[in-house]
Amino acid sequence: MADNIRRIALNTGGGDAPGLNAVIRAVVLSALRRGWEVYGIGRGYGGLLGEDEVVRMDQNSVRGITHRGGTILGTTNRGNPFEWPRHHPDGRIEVVDRSDQILDAFRTRRLDALVAIGGDGSLRIAQRLAEKGMPIVGVPKTIDNDLEATVTFGFHTAVETATEALDKLHSTAESHERVFVVEVMGRTTGWIALWSGIAATADVILIPEIPYEVERVCEKVEQRYSAGRRFAIVVAAEGAAPRGGSVSYIAPAAAGTAARLGGVGERLAEEIGQRTGYETRSLVLGHLQRGGTPVAYDRYLGLRSGAAAVQLIAERKFGTMVALSEDRITAVPIREAIERIKNVDPNCDAILAARATGISFGD
Ligand code: F6P
Repeated sequence: MADNIRRIALNTGGGDAPGLNAVIRAVVLSALRRGWEVYGIGRGYGGLLGEDEVVRMDQNSVRGITHRGGTILGTTNRGNPFEWPRHHPDGRIEVVDRSDQILDAFRTRRLDALVAIGGDGSLRIAQRLAEKGMPIVGVPKTIDNDLEATVTFGFHTAVETATEALDKLHSTAESHERVFVVEVMGRTTGWIALWSGIAATADVILIPEIPYEVERVCEKVEQRYSAGRRFAIVVAAEGAAPRGGSVSYIAPAAAGTAARLGGVGERLAEEIGQRTGYETRSLVLGHLQRGGTPVAYDRYLGLRSGAAAVQLIAERKFGTMVALSEDRITAVPIREAIERIKNVDPNCDAILAARATGISFGD
């Protein structure tokens, strides 16, 4: 065979995102068409470390999965092989590097390439494995939409879910004359908060890129109540922080896992309630944003990305990642793609439009 590829594997790592199954389907079917064998690694790299399975995949493995949320391969965000937590009987946790074991397992299975589908954490792992000689092609995924080099599938479904939740809260907020603070995901970026907040015509949108002042948030709430609109909806990205203050965390980073963000919604709701005297409630949308049926766009992008990854393998463009730029699929070196996070530009037209329609950013 001209490309010398016979057997490829694929895995999904990090938090799941709607659209992953579409990628898996496209990788498997387009690889089978080339006459390659395809193997699905269970739970990130777990299958290669003897902690899960590696299964041969055929057409039947990927039937009827495009519209399904989650990932049929399973995933984990505790699966960094370079920082693997080994639990000892005395309760001690030792962090060990198991990357060589992965390379050995990969070679023993006579695999020619790996499609690593993951967010920035998983792509960092992919880059380190590529540097150790593993022939890897990346497919980016994250609901956070925070990779500079590309648009990611999963984001649009998360925005739909958040928007629907905000729409639903309007009626109960209005009936009870309450302020609702809704915390959405996004890590250090405000994409989900911005898009859903604008789409659902929230009154205040708080994002990490624009530090907020609680006085300004309360001013906006007071304005509404005095104008006779006796309820308010505040959307806060989990990474939003007060000017001069800090981001709220549920748990710090631990062996091989990132810090867990969260708490800003509740903190704000308390402050707003105390300062304004209006009844205030908070709601954390959390993992609802990662679940459910992927919207058409996320399936469409997922399928395109999967097929493109197989094409990159055929061209032996290892160490690269599929990227979408101006609606064209391209390839960028993984190293470059993980260098920069894509933040919301505080002066972008979406923010200006939101401000022009009366939405406050708490600044
Ligand atoms: O990166 C995707 C994401 O859903 C973030 O928006 C969120 O902060 C994080 O993952 C939650 O991770 P976990 O599933 O570990 O709670």
